[in-house]
Amino acid sequence: MVKDTHHHNNSHLPVLLEASIKFLAPKQGESYLDLTAGYGGHASEVLHKVDDVKKMTLVDRDINAIKSLKQTNLKDANIIHMDFAGACKKLVEDKQKFDMIMIDLGVSSPHLDNGERGFSFMTNAKLDMRMDESQALTADTIVNSYSEQDLAEILKGFGEEPKAKIIAKAIVENRPLHTTIKLASIVEKIYGRRGKKHPATRTFQALRIAVNQELQQLESVLLLLPRLLNIGGRAVIISFHSLEDRMVKRSFVEGSRNGYESIYRVLNKKPISGANEDVFNRRARSAKLRAVIKINN
Ligand SMILES: C[S@@+](CC[C@H](N)C(=O)[O-])C[C@H]1O[C@@H](n2cnc3c(N)ncnc32)[C@H](O)[C@@H]1O
Repeated sequence: MVKDTHHHNNSHLPVLLEASIKFLAPKQGESYLDLTAGYGGHASEVLHKVDDVKKMTLVDRDINAIKSLKQTNLKDANIIHMDFAGACKKLVEDKQKFDMIMIDLGVSSPHLDNGERGFSFMTNAKLDMRMDESQALTADTIVNSYSEQDLAEILKGFGEEPKAKIIAKAIVENRPLHTTIKLASIVEKIYGRRGKKHPATRTFQALRIAVNQELQQLESVLLLLPRLLNIGGRAVIISFHSLEDRMVKRSFVEGSRNGYESIYRVLNKKPISGANEDVFNRRARSAKLRAVIKINN
């Protein structure tokens, strides 16, 4: 695949782009797998750095991202509309291996800006939050049908919400509850006045993680990653909250622990932080980047 124009989709500014490219270190004729291709920001930059990418595979579970990718200079890539756990399983079965693997977790700006998808409490919308709109489970189902205890566990486990039990109780008492604003106002009532961060931020994060099974997805990919990398291949993962970063760190550190038999060498002991390295991108504030190189099978 050969680059043509240098193209960025303006609706989504790629996070920690410079650091990602530094660790991916693209070389001519190498292969690239992007498991969260989104609007192609990172992928375009990889293509821009080298004249020729031997094989480029782009995965996203959001149909809007897929449609948009097909209209860019990345359209000749192998574009897969699937969740990345499923896509990785298939790629492993097909014995595909890559020199560079990129994972940029979380929601893209078009998700947040498109209020209808229900990811944000800033716009009134139905409680949806599905990244893949063909999936059955929505935030509405969770909020209106899960038990108080299950809700509390989701809020605590995926949102690290200190008032998880109180919020879960209030949700159950206020059913039916179908809109983002109504949910946000329930949490706001519990916390009283607003601080710097909207008090519903953690509740929304928790629901989004539950709806999209984000931690299970990440766990499966971390397990399959070594089988998808060539020896000498680099993987870069950008995460947006501590639960994800902890999982990535553990997997990378465990993979690099066993002396001469270790699978990985960790490329950055401390995560690169978006708050320091990508200060002009609002979405990058909580981003953390970790990278490894595969050194053994
Ligand atoms: C932060 S955006 C990626 C942006 C991209 N790096 C760019 O620069 O344009 C994350 C993308 O990953 C996708 N995504 C998140 N989790 C996914 C999963 N488990 N499987 C497949 N795609 C996923 C989302 O739909 C979203 O488009």
